[in-house]
Amino acid sequence: MTKIAPSILSADFARMGEEVKSAKAAGADWLHIDVMDGHFCPNLTMGPDMVKALKKSSDLFLDVHLMVTNPENFFESFAKAGADLLVFHIETDPDPTDKIKMIRDLGCRAGLSLNPDKPVSAVLPYLEQVDLVLLMSVFPGYSGQSFIPESLERAAEIRSFIDEHKLDCALEIDGGVSRTTAPDIIKAGVDIVVMGSAFFGDDDRTGIVRYIKSL
Ligand code: DX5
Ligand code: ZN
Repeated sequence: MTKIAPSILSADFARMGEEVKSAKAAGADWLHIDVMDGHFCPNLTMGPDMVKALKKSSDLFLDVHLMVTNPENFFESFAKAGADLLVFHIETDPDPTDKIKMIRDLGCRAGLSLNPDKPVSAVLPYLEQVDLVLLMSVFPGYSGQSFIPESLERAAEIRSFIDEHKLDCALEIDGGVSRTTAPDIIKAGVDIVVMGSAFFGDDDRTGIVRYIKSL
């Protein structure tokens, strides 16, 4: 069944504790934490202290999405803060093998992400090394952007590769996932959907989780 990872970037920061409780109560599986450095992408968000606070207040799996240049400088502090999964971008390193190993040595699961303009072929050779591939369906920076339709074909291509090679690698998608776009996304073979604005902006959070899981 599809897993749902609400992105706390769309939560009310002044009420973060309650927002996280509400995600858990709604049936969300993971929490997605968008880390931006104002260099890899044009926004600044949060760091390891947020992860530490979330770890204290929730038992949800912490999916940390590093949209930063030189992500390896931060692996240790996020691992110590309680991240369960550390995802970094192929754009930061065309040969990510060493970084993947660093993450594993810190005891976390490792994920690799790619931007909408990066050929899928750039990540395929590394999928046997990671627990998860995170396909961006918007350009990193902000929540509330529109889903890029070409992402469906890209998701299906990654899905076929994973299945064909019998890899133990989950496929996650990030950006513009909503009640409207979810059916095709799930048809394309995505395992985990990140949802920012569509989740935190919905008055019926339990309803949206139930709906996505019913697809
Ligand atoms: C975009 C972030 C996303 C974003 C998703 O740079 O990586 O995780 O918060 O937000 P929505 O679901 O609103 O597109
Ligand atoms: Zn993200």
